[in-house]
Order: sequence, then C-alpha cells, then structure tokens
Amino acid sequence: MAFNKKQKYIVGIVGATGAVGRRMLTTLEERNFPVDRLVLLASPRSAGQTFSFRGQSIPVEILTENSFEGLDFALFSAGASVSLKYAPFAVQAGCIVIDNSSAFRMDKNIPLVVPEVNPEAIPEQPGIIANPNCSTIQMVVALHPIHARYRIKRVVVSTYQSVSGSGQKAIAELTTQTIGVLDNKDCVSQVYPHQIAFNCLPHIDVFLDNGYTKEEMKMVNETRKILGDDSIQVSPTTVRVPVFYSHSESVNVETEEPISALDVKKLLHDSPGIRIVDDPDKNEYPLAINAEGKDEVMVGRLRDDISKERAINFWVVADNLRKGAALNAVQIAEHIIQR
Ligand code: A2P
Repeated sequence: MAFNKKQKYIVGIVGATGAVGRRMLTTLEERNFPVDRLVLLASPRSAGQTFSFRGQSIPVEILTENSFEGLDFALFSAGASVSLKYAPFAVQAGCIVIDNSSAFRMDKNIPLVVPEVNPEAIPEQPGIIANPNCSTIQMVVALHPIHARYRIKRVVVSTYQSVSGSGQKAIAELTTQTIGVLDNKDCVSQVYPHQIAFNCLPHIDVFLDNGYTKEEMKMVNETRKILGDDSIQVSPTTVRVPVFYSHSESVNVETEEPISALDVKKLLHDSPGIRIVDDPDKNEYPLAINAEGKDEVMVGRLRDDISKERAINFWVVADNLRKGAALNAVQIAEHIIQR
C-alpha cells in the first residue's frame, strides 16, 4: 500500500514545549509545510500553555495513548522512553512517526534517514522513521559525497557541542551559571555533572563499558548505518562546551583513493545542504554563532593532513536544533509527501 497523498496533513508534535519541539513548530511554519491542523503534545506539566502557529494560538494537549487518532504525521522529540511507550500507539492509529530520540535508531527494521544522504531508505508506506543524532547528521552530510568519490576508511572526530542539545533546562543552566560565576556566586549543576559555564566537559550521555560515551558510540554506529557501510572506522570524542546553539566538529578523514582538500572543497560546494565558508585570509570559517538559525551545514578549514597521505581535515558547524533535529525531521516528512 502506498502513502495516501493529501492536500494538507494533520501533524502532531510530541514534546512541543521542548527545545527541539519548538523548532519543529517554527520549521513547519517557515517551510510552509501543508498543515491542515497542528496538534501540540507534552506532559501534564505543560497543560494550559499555548504556542502561536500561523497567527493562531494553539493549546498544548496532554500526551495520551489516544492522542494520535486522525493524525497523518507525529514528530517525536520527548526522549527515548516517551517514544518507546507512545510511538507504537501512533503507528497503530495509522500515523507516520518521525522520531528524534535514540529509541529506534539502531533497530534494523527502522530506517535512519538524512534526506541529503539516504532518502531511498524511506519505505513506500513508512511506520517509524528515525532521525539521527545531531552530531552525526551534520558530519554525514559532509562525509557522504566524500565517501561516494574517495571511499572513506577512517574518520577521527572531536565535537564541540552546544548545551541546547541537552534541552531547555541546560540552556537555563548555562545562563544562570554564567551570570553566577561573574557575580562570584556558587554554581549549582543539575543537568551536567560539573559546571558548564567557562568549562568543557568531555562527557556526553552515559559512559559505556568500552570507555566511550553513548553519544560517541552513536556517532560510530549511526554513521555506518546511514552511509550503508560497516567497514568505515570512526574514532570519536564528544565534548560539551559553553555555547548555546550549534555544534562544531573537527573531522579528519582517511580515504582509499587519493584525495586533496582543494578537490573536496569543490565537491562539497556542489553537494546538497552544504555551504562552504573557507577563506582564511579574511578570517572566514564556520562559526557556531553564524550557523544558528541557518539550514545549511557549514564546512571550512579544509586542508590536507600534513601527517598522512590520502587524508584531509575540516571543520563542520550546524544548528543542532535545526539540521541536527527539527529541520531534518521536517525534510523527511517533505520527502514523503513530495515523492
Ligand atoms: P514538558 O515541557 O511538559 O515537560 P527538552 O528536550 O527541551 O527538555 O524537552 C523535552 C520535551 O519532552 C518537553 O516538551 C516535555 O514536555 C516533553 N516530555 C517529557 N516527558 C514527557 C512525557 N512523559 N509525556 C509527554 N511529554 C513529555
């Protein structure tokens, strides 16, 4: 059975009050997604809140097992436990789920999609589609054209991830701590195990038995699944930095075929979803503050690896709440309704 095309669709956002959920709403609005009705869902804590969509005030409803009747799409961003519990009810109600949590990403029956990279993974009649981890999305948008032309053997990546990736409470924590430190007050850390203001934490998500964090292993496993190649070696270090929006990453790529930074610059310039910002003479390179609110993944500091043949380095920055989450989810929905 093929997807039932309509003029307009009833769309739900699960976790509508959260950092990503709010961007999902604005992304649907900005991109003029054909929304017939928007349903905002969150926990009982948010009862009574309203959000504006196309000039209309929309109340937040409490998420229940029956919230999905009549919905065409449900964009989930309320954490893995909420997705695990409620996504099956959405599918049961005939709704397509695009899930921003880690709940289903590595399930071999569930596609993990970045529309610029593997749109063919979206089935004719989708049930649940997983949205990858934010740090993985921006990296694979840049890696995909490189892999197609030069065959990637190994990637070494270090991330500089903003606090908005940990949600609204983390945004508030960085604000309060920054003001507090400048005021000589004691810092209270609730979201992170240590002070994040004026600090870098080499610790994102929980530590695993192999000494890597879950965030780091997401980058390893999701990269292989999205690029469809388990032979790619990925060596990640993920770091939380006191930046509000946009993730930055230092990426070293080693390839089978001879590669040069100059050729990759041209290749990525012509690749979808990428903007090259790379003019060192003018001090131009991708910056977190410039990526905020933008759709594209920005790539710069492209240079040959002076320590190794067939290897290059680059710096890649994207708005983690947009391309890293909300925009990628909406692009998946657009792909489904447009094909
Ligand atoms: P609420 O604001 O009502 O707690 P963030 O990632 O910024 O922390 O946001 C998480 C989002 O997930 C919020 O919208 C939050 O709603 C929602 N959420 C968390 N737990 C639940 C739950 N059990 N049921 C419904 N929504 C939830």
